[in-house]
Amino acid sequence: MNPDQFHPASIAAQALGWVDDKTKAIVEPLHMSTTYIRDPDNQYRSGRVYARDQNPAFDQAEAVITALERGHASLLFASGMAAATAVFQALSPGDHVVAPKVMYWSLRNWLAEFATRWGLRVEFIDMTETDELSRAVQPGRTRLVWIESPANPMWGVTDLAASCGIAHAAGAMVAVDSTVATPVLTQPLTLGADIVMHAATKYLNGHSDVIAGTLTTREDSVLWQRIKGIRAQIGGVLGPFEAWLLTRGMRTLFPRVRAACAGAVAVAEHFARHPQIAEVLYPGLPAFKGHAVAAMQMHGGFGGMLSIRVRGGETAAIATAANLELWKRATSLGGVESLVEHRASIEGPGTPVPADLLRLSVGIEDVSDLIADLEQALDKGHLPAAA
Ligand SMILES: Cc1ncc(COP(=O)(O)O)c(C=O)c1O
Repeated sequence: MNPDQFHPASIAAQALGWVDDKTKAIVEPLHMSTTYIRDPDNQYRSGRVYARDQNPAFDQAEAVITALERGHASLLFASGMAAATAVFQALSPGDHVVAPKVMYWSLRNWLAEFATRWGLRVEFIDMTETDELSRAVQPGRTRLVWIESPANPMWGVTDLAASCGIAHAAGAMVAVDSTVATPVLTQPLTLGADIVMHAATKYLNGHSDVIAGTLTTREDSVLWQRIKGIRAQIGGVLGPFEAWLLTRGMRTLFPRVRAACAGAVAVAEHFARHPQIAEVLYPGLPAFKGHAVAAMQMHGGFGGMLSIRVRGGETAAIATAANLELWKRATSLGGVESLVEHRASIEGPGTPVPADLLRLSVGIEDVSDLIADLEQALDKGHLPAAA
């Protein structure tokens, strides 16, 4: 299938239309081998030596992501964290990096603790304000600007095209964690980003049964070659079955994301006027600070993630989560089942997340059931949950 000829939804549904050469099966076989035959004359003409970084199990998933992100090449990793940290490990001690103050918490912690000890000079800013980025970048010194948009768990939206312009003018590259936007809604590489990252654990796989990460590059570069080397040497690779499951998951990416977006809009609009909710944070609401930028760079929806701030503070928020029946109380996001999480509890001391905030990952259930469940949980208010 020529990716230039078909819409992204068609590319995803058929996983690029790959057919197994040997059997003509329309689903690629699972490649379990860890090693490959050397030719009698001591060459490796197949191009494959060892499965740590040359596993054919990666090929189809990587090709599908590259096509959906309109990039040059992709790499699968053992997790979103393995993918994200590989980008920073490809930098050199002393390099200046700019990252968001509010972003996926584990990566922020890793940057603040490990990456800083390792020699990166990491500066955290409000990445939703392009003026702050202009002030933070140091021409010739800043090597990388890391963006997450919309960003966990307040869903702040960063103007990708404007930020890429600012970073590039200073000689810095831009990497975007686009996990929440998904390639269905935004293609950061077409807006100027150099690398796009996904916690494929979330929407790309979509069924809460695979941990995986991906990076896609706009073009070949020194940084990309270093990242490839890091994956090969450190070996944070995905297992073949997980790669196969990820390819299967991506076949339904478009209908899943569209359903999640429709559900999230309905939930956001319904609870924006609810007396027990102080605020609904969702890029799709016109009153949300980043709405105009989101409307410009997200196409076909505003994502399946939103947060609500419950009147009554932390106790009321935790009691509301406890009283939910259909929404599952669990961390993570982007699966077909709806999840709720009291985010401050998992992030712990020092989190910028308000204590009254519940993060909602909208799945593909009937939205009236999701709304009714949240209504009844809020109505029970501060009553302790039944054991
Ligand atoms: C936006 C975002 N980026 C990165 C990650 C890390 O992905 P993983 O859990 O696969 O390491 C997560 C996980 O929650 C995430 O939500």
